[in-house]
Amino acid sequence: MPEETWKSRVGFVAAAMGSAIGLGNIWMFPMRAGLYGGAAFLVPYLILLFLIGVVALTVEFTLGRTAGGPIEAYGKTLPGGKYLGIFVNAMMLMIFAFYSVVVGWALKYFVTALTGKLLSVDPGPFFGSISFSTEAVVWQFIAIAITIGVVIMGVQKGIERACKIMMPGLFVMLIILAIRSVTLPNSYAGLEFYLLPDWSKILSGKTWMIALSQMFFSLSCLGMSNVVYGSYIKKDQDIPLSAIVTAFGDTAVAVTAGFAIFPAVFAFGLEPTAGPGLVFVTLPVVFQKMPGGIIFAVIFFLLILFAAFSSTVAMLETNVQAATTHLNMSRKTATILFGLLAFVIGAPGAINPTYFDWIINISTVYLGPLGALIAALALIKLGIDKAYEELRKGALIEFPAIWKPWAKYVYPIVVIIVYVSQFILG
Ligand code: TRP
Repeated sequence: MPEETWKSRVGFVAAAMGSAIGLGNIWMFPMRAGLYGGAAFLVPYLILLFLIGVVALTVEFTLGRTAGGPIEAYGKTLPGGKYLGIFVNAMMLMIFAFYSVVVGWALKYFVTALTGKLLSVDPGPFFGSISFSTEAVVWQFIAIAITIGVVIMGVQKGIERACKIMMPGLFVMLIILAIRSVTLPNSYAGLEFYLLPDWSKILSGKTWMIALSQMFFSLSCLGMSNVVYGSYIKKDQDIPLSAIVTAFGDTAVAVTAGFAIFPAVFAFGLEPTAGPGLVFVTLPVVFQKMPGGIIFAVIFFLLILFAAFSSTVAMLETNVQAATTHLNMSRKTATILFGLLAFVIGAPGAINPTYFDWIINISTVYLGPLGALIAALALIKLGIDKAYEELRKGALIEFPAIWKPWAKYVYPIVVIIVYVSQFILG
């Protein structure tokens, strides 16, 4: 078994943050905050982040460091655990498959912005002609090839190094965009939409549920990649502080993304939307109307690419860890093989929107979140005292012993509630 580890604490945090910060932060969080109470949404979100999000990360990192990647960790602890490990790997592959389609669109937009052509297209029809086309398959392939290129170089020389470059770059670009956006004339309506607190919303259960499920996806806590990343943490490297930094860094980016987006959208009299429509249709209109917009378009799509690639490397690495450990494959073979597999699974989704939606729903709504539950159960079976001991090794700060009942009882119950509530809330 190849002994992969992170080179440094900072490198690990960069990688963990890279995995967490993704499309979820930029195209979902701001919209949800705007709709569910504005600044008031931050109250439940931050409370849940502190009480559940940080614990979720510590559970998955600790499990990984103690017991290895998902197949080892679940195999050692749960009946049929090996198959549960294979199951979460299959979900990870599906997530990578659809995610790579979107990264492909972002690549196309980045190149179109670089050449200046983005200023002269009609964004709605342009997006219509790109998405779900054979051209999208080509861009998806390029997105996967780039991900393969990073992962093939290994944990330290590939993922860790790439994230150490991309994360600071991402922060700088995001701040530039946020300053530009809030200083536009008439940006106030956007700030109002985004932040005007509606305190009544924090009394609604739905707000808390939306905040929770957003948080799980955003922190990548699905019992998959974080367990793998956890297995690379050395005994003298810290888990608690890394989890806190990752959780709050992820949130800081999500909140700032709202400042970069809404003031600009409202300044030009546009309607805010979520998802692909926001990034690929509404914002290009904004860039066309903004003085010097093409520069901001290039920065924005590069930001999206940094956020996305630091997530896709985590996704592919999850399968690579499994294949190198259990199928006796070399890193090179495993990376290329699973990259191509994601391409084959995702490519029909690059062409057909029905299939695209199907694969997203299976992997992120119906089956994927079960991975978080599997990880929580595995940690319990491992022994909560042992886990707590493990959590303290190399730790720069200590969590109080209440972590034990919290991780053992509160956390799994919350995971179940989130999973079930998704179906009730739709
Ligand atoms: N957290 C990522 C985002 O916000 C998406 C994601 C979900 C993810 N699960 C993951 C990333 C697993 C890496 C690994 O977009």
